Amino acid sequence: MCGIVGYNGKNKAVDILLDGLSKLEYRGYDSSGVAIKNEKIDVIKAKGKLTNLKEKIANMELNGTCGIGHTRWATHGEPSENNAHPHTSNDGSVVLVHNGIIENYQELIDKLEKHKYKFYSETDTEVLANIIDYYYKKYQMGPMDAINRTMVRVRGSYAIAVMFKDHPDDLWVARKDSPMIIGLNNDGAYVASDVPAILKYTRNVYYIDNMETACLKKNKVIFYDLNGDVIKKELKEIKWDISLAEKGGYEHFMIKEINEQPEVVRKTINSLLNEDNIDLSKTGLTIEEIRSFKQIYIVACGSAYHVGVCAQYILEDLARIPVRVDTASEFRYRNPILDKKGLVIIISQSGETADSLAALREAKKQGIKTLGIINVVGSSIAREADHVLYTLAGPEIAVATTKAFSTQLIAMYAIAIQFAKVKRKLNNKDYAKLIDDLKLLPDNISVILKDKQEDIQRLSSQFPNLQDAFYIGRGLDYAISLEGSLKLKEVSYVHSEAYPAGELKHGTISLIEDGTLVIGIATQDKVFEKTLSNLVEVKSRGGYIVSIVSKNAKVDKVSDFIIEVPKTNKYFYPSLTVVPLQLIGYYITVSKGLDVDKPRNLAKSVTVE
Ligand code: BG6
Repeated sequence: MCGIVGYNGKNKAVDILLDGLSKLEYRGYDSSGVAIKNEKIDVIKAKGKLTNLKEKIANMELNGTCGIGHTRWATHGEPSENNAHPHTSNDGSVVLVHNGIIENYQELIDKLEKHKYKFYSETDTEVLANIIDYYYKKYQMGPMDAINRTMVRVRGSYAIAVMFKDHPDDLWVARKDSPMIIGLNNDGAYVASDVPAILKYTRNVYYIDNMETACLKKNKVIFYDLNGDVIKKELKEIKWDISLAEKGGYEHFMIKEINEQPEVVRKTINSLLNEDNIDLSKTGLTIEEIRSFKQIYIVACGSAYHVGVCAQYILEDLARIPVRVDTASEFRYRNPILDKKGLVIIISQSGETADSLAALREAKKQGIKTLGIINVVGSSIAREADHVLYTLAGPEIAVATTKAFSTQLIAMYAIAIQFAKVKRKLNNKDYAKLIDDLKLLPDNISVILKDKQEDIQRLSSQFPNLQDAFYIGRGLDYAISLEGSLKLKEVSYVHSEAYPAGELKHGTISLIEDGTLVIGIATQDKVFEKTLSNLVEVKSRGGYIVSIVSKNAKVDKVSDFIIEVPKTNKYFYPSLTVVPLQLIGYYITVSKGLDVDKPRNLAKSVTVE
């Protein structure tokens, strides 16, 4: 997820581009760049935050009134000036910015290299600049034709803004699946990945559909379909205020990111599937290596640690490989005894958490193979781990992780399934069934978000003065209850504990009294009856029971409030039950009027010990 912006009009483009990019930094902030049409097309790029680019541009004469800009969230190629956008074709006649992922970029590189094209970056985007240039030169049918042919040829998602050296007065755009909005006012035409970038200039916008192209002139916009025919579009008025717009119309980044989970879970699943097989080849892990691992150690902090606890249950049951899970701050100092035939998996959204990085170095010091499950491309842990599996959650702004957590679960499911297959613990029929169920998860999550948000908001509004809460479950339900409890604690400051349901009667049940909020998660058939009887024990002490169960589970007798999630594979329920748990944490915090996105005493990534 990157941010693109473009302008063609009467005014100096550079100011409008930099202003727009500053409103899109929540979409990516590891590098940025602009291209401005003056005598020639000037391309200026910088690594790091937008301020670095602004410093570079500060003393430059860039008076052009047509330009494009980009703020990056690396997916292909580490954050660097070379990989930053805009990217140019070999001879500089095509310059573009791109948001999205080109899936068949390697195939296109092979094709273009046969036509003597050379590539200077590690990005999938540079391919777009050259393939457009290739068609532009080959067919001599102009920019629109070259872009349309490219759209037919590439696979993936994209929103692009393109400048052609030969057409100085025009700015071209096209999209498929990635967001794009086009604005118009008396000063010119604007394009951006999201409303906040142009709202300051105009509220009059066009919506461009998939596989359409548009030419932004200085005073109008012309739209074309894939056949090159002109299509009429209506200008619509945007009514949002700026801060709301940055959150895509949501009140907080946390609830926006909770609602982005179906999309990022789908993206992460697709990145780990090749046709109907799990494909871990991008990690560089070989079949032989996987077969050789005798022990797995999962090490992480905070919510990422809870992904590890879930993964332990799945890996041990499915792949029959022993798994030990550690918090990184303990692992790094407890002088762990590590099996030489082991694999240490470090899970981290930021890839910069100090304790997790130190744990990685400890494992490497002991000569143990390491795999990073990381969301930020090019981060320290990603660079130092022997193998990396990238999650595709995109930038996560809210301190309390939600969508990154869900993509980490997907990564661990894929590892468990593939390790089980490679270690011959899984027959082809069960393997195929697991992958079918995996592919249904994004829709399952959408159903919960569509059907349950209001219910959970209503439930949460009953607890404005909540002091304590308990989360209980067995097996994977216990593992995910740890995350539910942390979600509530970290944003609402309510004290809460998560407990193995069977453990409650060995002490903690003494804390249950009339009205004590107890959230019971019961999705695992093998222990369902056991969990139910634990809920009865709590109910009989006056607990207020919120049950999170799979569809049609019989819990109405013991529950004060029931949240049903769609049926799925027993190993995948954490991906469904975590959504209501996130929503409970969010809505109780909102009902207390607290700063949901920036909770006190916390940071998005703790880079100090
Ligand atoms: C905390 C974040 O600082 O670090 C948590 O607030 C996160 O949300 C934890 O789970 C670990 O961070 P990371 O980046 O290593 O996953």
